[in-house]
Amino acid sequence: MNEIVHKTMGQQSGRRSWAEPWKIKMVEPLRTTSRAEREKALVDAGHNTFLLHSDDVYIDLLTDSGTSAMSDRQWAGMMLGDEAYAGSRNFYHLEQAIQKHYGYEYIVPTHQGRGAEHLISQTAIRKGQYVPGNMYFTTTRLHQELAGGIFVDVIIDEAHDPSNLHPFKGNVDLAKLEALIRQQGAANIAYVSLATTVNMAGGQPVSMANVKALRELCDRHKIRLLLDATRLVENAYFIQEREAGYAGKSIAEISREFCGHTDGAWSSAKKDSLVNIGGWLAVNDWTLFEELRNLVVVYEGLHTYGGLAGRDMEAMAIGIEESMQDQHVHSRIGQVRYLAELLQDWGIPMVLPVGGHAIFLDARACYPQVPQSAFPAQTLAAELYLDSGIRSMERGVVSAGRDPATGDHHYPKLELTRLTIPRRVYTQAHMDVIAESVKAVYDARGAARGLKMVYEPKYLRFFQARFEPL
Ligand SMILES: Cc1ncc(COP(=O)(O)O)c(C=O)c1O
Repeated sequence: MNEIVHKTMGQQSGRRSWAEPWKIKMVEPLRTTSRAEREKALVDAGHNTFLLHSDDVYIDLLTDSGTSAMSDRQWAGMMLGDEAYAGSRNFYHLEQAIQKHYGYEYIVPTHQGRGAEHLISQTAIRKGQYVPGNMYFTTTRLHQELAGGIFVDVIIDEAHDPSNLHPFKGNVDLAKLEALIRQQGAANIAYVSLATTVNMAGGQPVSMANVKALRELCDRHKIRLLLDATRLVENAYFIQEREAGYAGKSIAEISREFCGHTDGAWSSAKKDSLVNIGGWLAVNDWTLFEELRNLVVVYEGLHTYGGLAGRDMEAMAIGIEESMQDQHVHSRIGQVRYLAELLQDWGIPMVLPVGGHAIFLDARACYPQVPQSAFPAQTLAAELYLDSGIRSMERGVVSAGRDPATGDHHYPKLELTRLTIPRRVYTQAHMDVIAESVKAVYDARGAARGLKMVYEPKYLRFFQARFEPL
């Protein structure tokens, strides 16, 4: 008799299994739909997954932003909201959490990351100045451009190659940065805009050695080094795993050391920090802080709430603490890796090494017959939704937008469909269902024809653009 011997996931990989460091106390039912319902929903949404109603979505991998499950402690913290207009105790708790874990002195809360990006861009950029960064992020670059800045990508070349296995593909190319400073003069550089991890490159990390070298370079030219710390904790995990001398250090220690090489940071707390809404700015320079604190009251709210309720700030303070725990980060990145390894074994092309928050499918490699002008990554996201109700998002030519000078599409080298894993939300069984759906869509890849854009908004077009099949 042919007897099947079942194996746990750990056993299949020849190791002991690991599990999430929490158990589930409350559940939210998921809705499944028929193929006919999904076809209608997709047409109604103009083939843009951002325009789907979430009730029509089965497993939602649109984003890891604001989609985390909060802990019982965070929910308890919500009940401790001090909803005073000024000087809420929750602000001081948040201030302490940021000072302790990120190490900056002066804190400004904002309603989310782009609120912080707006304030720092308006404050730290003079019209016509250059802003070098390790690949762009959509909202970050737009705020820099709206403030009159000229963004310049100075990430290492390896970041633009989806199959290059460089362990720190988020690193800044110091030679590219030096060349820009030489050409334009240090006075014409507003600041260096460093992101951890690099979302658009596939969630790729920056090494500690790179940020140290950047610090020295910036000091030499008297240029500020500002950090987008949105996924710093995930970046710290990769440093712990890959960089010599860091295996014995905790995520909290590595995060704090990394920030110590920078002059300030902003963050969308909707990612690492495990909240549904919130963001912040933090700097060490009092003069810069004074300007930020002054501007926040114009656009966000008083400097002790910045567009947030007291309860939101409390949940964020507790979330920051929880996000720094090694076991949490291990299980979060471990889940992303589990899904990635299945897909890799099945030959599905993706950005490698796999980053911390998502799997980025290489849509160009999936659909070589679809030219970039027919939006391969948008097409793949639409096909995945049709197959199973799983919602992913485009990170390719649609997200890249247009060149403000020429009006042409930016044609990024990376044409990716992002499967973003929310933190503490889905189980290993969900990962299996996702993997099988991606495989089914990949197996049918020959039939894809692409899309045409029939409506294009002026700003951040990927959110609201509409498409029709070719
Ligand atoms: C790296 C990075 N920076 C900034 C932001 C903007 O933050 P928010 O969505 O909270 O405005 C995001 C959001 O996706 C991000 O991924």
